[in-house]
Amino acid sequence: MSWKEQYADRICTAEEAVSHIKSGDRVVVAHACGEPVIITDAMVACADKYDYKDVEIVHMVPMGHAGYVAPEQSKHFRHNGLFLGGTTKGAIADGRGDFTPVFFSQVPDLLRTKLHPNVLLACVSEPDEHGYCSFGVSCDYTKPAAEIADIVIAQVNPKMPRVHGDNFIHISDIDYIVAEESDIVELAPPKIGEVQRKIGENIASLVHDGACLQLGIGAIPDAVLLFLKDKKDLGIHSEMFSDGVVELIEAGVITNKCKQIDNGKCVATFLMGTKRLYDYANDNPSVELKSVDIVNDPYVIRQNDNVVSINSCVEVDLMGQVCSESVGLQQISGVGGQVDFVRGATMSKGGRTIMAMPSTAAKGTISKIVPFLTHGAAVTTSRCDVDYVVTEHGIAQLKGNTLRERARQLIAIADPAFKDGLIAEYESRFKCTYEA
Ligand code: COA
Repeated sequence: MSWKEQYADRICTAEEAVSHIKSGDRVVVAHACGEPVIITDAMVACADKYDYKDVEIVHMVPMGHAGYVAPEQSKHFRHNGLFLGGTTKGAIADGRGDFTPVFFSQVPDLLRTKLHPNVLLACVSEPDEHGYCSFGVSCDYTKPAAEIADIVIAQVNPKMPRVHGDNFIHISDIDYIVAEESDIVELAPPKIGEVQRKIGENIASLVHDGACLQLGIGAIPDAVLLFLKDKKDLGIHSEMFSDGVVELIEAGVITNKCKQIDNGKCVATFLMGTKRLYDYANDNPSVELKSVDIVNDPYVIRQNDNVVSINSCVEVDLMGQVCSESVGLQQISGVGGQVDFVRGATMSKGGRTIMAMPSTAAKGTISKIVPFLTHGAAVTTSRCDVDYVVTEHGIAQLKGNTLRERARQLIAIADPAFKDGLIAEYESRFKCTYEA
């Protein structure tokens, strides 16, 4: 059978496609903006009809409706989150789902060894003349899952950009095809306030010409980009990137000319932004997505010189231990690629790691620099891995410094309203007077 015949043969509606999910199956849903929302929504809508029981939904960043975590769906589904978001964290807090800690780089291995996917739900571009579809904006664990899942159900969506890289699947490897056009999930650009701008400016002072950047999600990474307009020949090897990067490529700031690997190309494992980003990435040979076990492998990251990783966190204690994923015991996100990139950047020749955050949370009522991590908080990045910590009040440099010097520098970049308490802790802990 030619691929065109296979394509015609495998087309079905979303409702028919999800009839192949069986009770007890583990269903892996494609990551972030690569989610085939019409298929996940159909799976939830048909849960009674197909009488699903004990279906495990493995997902990372949920950008769709995550209807499978609704209380009334508990009799059909149980969510196993590898990273939580606004739609799923409540379900985990209420005991209607679970969280599995994992470095993003190791998710494909986890799927191969412990979390075998019975079904993968993905969204892909239209096939090219040879029958290959691109995974578009989400290669990450989606492509590895497609290689090992018993059944692959994919929405072939004309709106999914054809993003290059190691990011393709052949029609013959898709079991059920839902050929439907729908908008790709978008992430609106964040609002950048004065605090974020100041943090961005401080971070930019640590980025030199020729650096290869990893940028996390959110207002801080976007704020940094505002202050990089005078830099030269920056590169991108990042877990993800967003619209802000396109602006710097078009301004000639990001050229990828100084990269030791993938020279001339922006490399990531997923994209998250608006149509502007997706249009830019479409059929653009200078943008490559590869699976997360390659892009986030610290030994791959280190092959570029001058890697600068920029991530954010929930709180930092006076020793430099970083929690980025929970508020006390309450899980609010996940490890993601933070530790992968901190380790890779540390090993890169001339590399730097930056942990950036506003000095306070909850409208200034909570200091994010604390004597002790909140009871129950997870240590996401250890004190031996953390180096630069940046707030709107300045830059602390921890690596190679004693616990006493770390604490002194961290207090210097804390919000002034909380300094007295931190200084009292410093003086009692180190039995000396604090000197700014
Ligand atoms: N104590 C109590 N609550 C806190 C807090 C603290 N120290 N710090 C943050 N919060 C609360 C905020 O008030 C906010 O609550 P809300 O959702 O009710 O408004 C919530 O936690 C999220 O904080 P916010 O500052 O809005 O988060 P962000 O969008 O800047 O993301 C992280 C910050 C740490 C959650 C995010 O960077 C993350 O998940 N990191 C881990 C993964 C990672 O680094 N991946 C990197 C590659 S993409």
